[in-house]
Amino acid sequence: MSPRHWECFLTLQLLLCLFLETSVQAPSDSASELNVIAGHNVSLSGTTLVPGNYTSFTWIYATDQKIIEWYGSNETKSFESELRDRVHLDDQGTLFINKVQKKDSSTYTLQVLWVGGEEQEWTIQLQVHDCVSQPTIRVEVERKEKSTCRVKLLCETQDQHVKYTWFGNSGPLPQDKALEITHTPEKYSKFYTCQVSNPVSSKNDTTNFISPCTLAHSCGAHWSAAWLLITVPVVLSFLLA
Ligand SMILES: *[C@@H]1O[C@H](CO)[C@@H](O)[C@H](O)[C@H]1NC(C)=O
Ligand SMILES: *[C@@H]1O[C@H](CO)[C@@H](O)[C@H](O)[C@H]1NC(C)=O
Repeated sequence: MSPRHWECFLTLQLLLCLFLETSVQAPSDSASELNVIAGHNVSLSGTTLVPGNYTSFTWIYATDQKIIEWYGSNETKSFESELRDRVHLDDQGTLFINKVQKKDSSTYTLQVLWVGGEEQEWTIQLQVHDCVSQPTIRVEVERKEKSTCRVKLLCETQDQHVKYTWFGNSGPLPQDKALEITHTPEKYSKFYTCQVSNPVSSKNDTTNFISPCTLAHSCGAHWSAAWLLITVPVVLSFLLA
């Protein structure tokens, strides 16, 4: 791919990533896990409270650090915390966090004091991730015999803690960062796609083979070759004129 195509491709992927859900509602079982994309607004709901049934409620994170409390007749109090300027509540117990950051990943607990004096709590495990970055497949082809080749494929990415998934058209492939495969004229894959993913996003790169030992040229390369064919005769006729 030419640098310009590449830039365009990256921009598109970034946009796609940003278009994913901007607000996520946690399911209301007692200990749930929520994976979200950094920078989005998130609402955490332990349970849906009915105003009048409770006296107060508090959201806590990192097991003992209070974030914000609802009490009296619709008054709220924010506590000193990393989240202080980015949170607000509604009167049904929902905690809203603006522009969630990776360091906000934590255990969040909603503690409710019911009108009868009883206490109850709900816990949500929040994990904030960045979108994965674009991987690139690096290929090494080593000729063994006339038309049999040893092919090494490496899926390169700057991210850690991502899952690698390979797809091809010659059967199942090992699921690892690197692949080593023998291509014979009878059995080779026409393409390899490496997909990197985390719980909130995935991206992939594909490389194509036109024979057991030959990679297909990228679209960008075809394009510049076509230009050469067209421009050379034009320049020549110009000089001769
Ligand atoms: C509490 O405040 C919210 C927003 O400020 C409002 O929508 C809601 O009606 C209020 N509830 C009560 C019981 O006053
Ligand atoms: C690769 O990514 C494109 C868009 O970026 C998507 O349409 C396609 O389904 C993905 N393929 C695989 C195998 O993940």
